Amino acid sequence: MTAAGKAPSKLILLGEHSVVYGQPAIAVPLRRPSAEALAHKTSSGSPAVLCLRDFDLDWSPGEDDSAPEIRPFAELLKALRARHSEIPEKGWKLEVRSDIPIGCGLGSGAAVSVAAVGALCACHGLGCGRRAASELAYEAEKVHHGTPSGVDNTVIAMGRPVLFKKGSEPELVDPPRAPVHLVVGYTGRRHKTSEVVSDVAKAREADAPKYDAIFSEMGRIARDGLSAFRLGRFPDLGRLMDCNQGLLELIGVSSPELKKLITAARAAGALGAKLSGAGRGGCMAALAADGESARRIRGALEAAGASKAFTTGILRGEECGASSA
Ligand code: PMV
Repeated sequence: MTAAGKAPSKLILLGEHSVVYGQPAIAVPLRRPSAEALAHKTSSGSPAVLCLRDFDLDWSPGEDDSAPEIRPFAELLKALRARHSEIPEKGWKLEVRSDIPIGCGLGSGAAVSVAAVGALCACHGLGCGRRAASELAYEAEKVHHGTPSGVDNTVIAMGRPVLFKKGSEPELVDPPRAPVHLVVGYTGRRHKTSEVVSDVAKAREADAPKYDAIFSEMGRIARDGLSAFRLGRFPDLGRLMDCNQGLLELIGVSSPELKKLITAARAAGALGAKLSGAGRGGCMAALAADGESARRIRGALEAAGASKAFTTGILRGEECGASSA
């Protein structure tokens, strides 16, 4: 029997960085790109094997796990087996692949973790709820990012838009009835979330009143954005994205490459555009009024030097998870 797990990428529409300081953020799971995992049982005495297809890497528990691609999975498996002793140490194979660019704010790490958990649980006849998948993926996120807020693993495991606030139950948000047309532009420069987050923390230490005022303004924007998002008031949501970008620039996490793409998206008619994720490279996201406008913005991003640009939409919660056949 082969079991499959699938997980989406994500975008933070409003509230990255301030979310680390307890402010709310709105994050959405995307229709594409995504990560998937396939698991099947092998003969009971043979070592378990993890194949990371994108890196052409095979690893078995007990082998050296110091490679940066392997360490989060080693931690994930430890946490998974601690929770589900039914998953044996040996006798299974797990293949993971993803078309989510790495280190660009689309949640690639959390997506491969959630897909892997889904596949391994389904392969061993275990149900794994979304909350459990999120908690397990958080263990791997700590290896990736040090002190993650938890927004990535939450929105990706839930597979639904969320209003996320550290330390509180995530609020699942119904997406608007009208389609949300998003365009993502990748600068081609990977960022390291832990480094950007730590630079922001250092800057805040030097001027806490200024940074805390900016973070609370970002929190207000996310709260205002919630009703604009729910009700499909896209011009309002776009304006809030632009305001959020201004504040992200003030805390020093934008970059000339991001700015160039954001400016190009706005000139091509975006309702709003901002960096998404940690910043200093990675991705930006633009909100478009309709499909035709989204395609125009994608073309403008390509012309402005995006290494990748694509149109996408929001997942509504029903399309991801685990299955077995
Ligand atoms: O890892 P990224 O690029 O998706 O960024 C996550 C968002 C941050 O707010 C910058 C960090 C966090 O832990 O929430």
